[in-house]
Amino acid sequence: MNLTKNLFFKIIALSIFMSLLLTLTSCRQVEVTEKKTEEEVTPEGTPTEEEKPIAFLPGITIEDDHPNGCIDCHLKVSDERDYRLNVTLAEIEEHPKIDQIVEKIPDDCMTCHKEGTDNAIEYIVHYEHYKDPEENHFISSYQGSCLNCHSMDIEEGEVKIKSGEKNW
Ligand code: HEC
Ligand code: HEC
Ligand code: HEC
Repeated sequence: MNLTKNLFFKIIALSIFMSLLLTLTSCRQVEVTEKKTEEEVTPEGTPTEEEKPIAFLPGITIEDDHPNGCIDCHLKVSDERDYRLNVTLAEIEEHPKIDQIVEKIPDDCMTCHKEGTDNAIEYIVHYEHYKDPEENHFISSYQGSCLNCHSMDIEEGEVKIKSGEKNW
C-alpha cells in the first residue's frame, strides 16, 4: 500500500514539474517571436544596443584630449607637419604676422576678427572645420565634434570656448 502511495505522489510531482517546464518554455517562445517583430520594424542597418558606439562628446561621455582647444591640434608634429597657426596663417598672403600680437588663442584672434562683424572668428573657424565635409580632416579625424573647441558645463548648462597660450 505504502509503495503505491509513494509512486502515486511521484507521478503527481513529475507531472507538475513537466507542466511547469512546458509553461516556461512556451513563455520563452512568445518572447522570441515578440523580439522578431521588433527587429522587423527597425530599419535595416540600425545598430543593436550592443553595437551602438558611445556618443563622441569629449569632456562629457569620453575623456577630452583637447582641453585647450585650438593649440592642442594646431601644433608642431614634425618639421614637415607644422600645424601651428602662426605658421599656417603666414601662408595666407594678406594675413598680418601674428607671432607678436597673439598670446592667447583664439581670444587674441578676436582683436581683429571681431565678434559681430563679417570677419568674426566664429565664421572663419566654423567654415574651415566644416567645409567639404567629405574630405575635411577635422570631421574624419575628430568626428567634427563641437566639443573639440567648445566646452560645456553640464551643471550650469553653459557653453564656453576653450582657449590656451600660444605655442610658438
Ligand atoms: C580637434 C582638433 C582641432 C581643433 C581643436 C581645432 N582645429 Fe583647426 N583644424 C583642424 C584640422 C584637422 C584642420 C584641417 C581641416 C581640413 O581638412 O581642411 C583645421 C583647419 C584650421 C584652419 C585652416 C588653416 C589651417 O591651419 O589648416 C584654421 C585657420 C584653423 N583650423 C583654426 C583653428 C582655431 C582658431 C581653433 C580654435 C578655435 C581650431 N582651429 C581648433 C583641427 C582642429
Ligand atoms: C592683426 C589682426 C589679425 C589678427 C590678430 C588675426 N587676423 Fe586673421 N586676418 C586678418 C586680416 C587683415 C585678414 C585678411 C583679410 C580678411 O579676409 O579679412 C585675415 C584673414 C584670416 C583668414 C583667411 C580669410 C578668411 O576670412 O577666411 C583666416 C583663416 C584667419 N584670418 C584666421 C585667424 C586666426 C585663427 C587668428 C588667431 C590665431 C587670426 N586670424 C588673427 C587679421 C588678423
Ligand atoms: C574649430 C573650433 C570650433 C568648432 C569645431 C565649433 N566652434 Fe562654435 N565657435 C568657435 C569660436 C572660436 C567661436 C567664437 C567665440 C566668441 O566669439 O567668443 C564660436 C562661436 C559659436 C557660437 C556663437 C556663440 C556666441 O556666444 O556668440 C555658436 C552658437 C557656436 N559657436 C556653435 C557651434 C556649434 C553648434 C558647433 C558644432 C556643430 C561649433 N560651434 C563648433 C569655435 C568652434
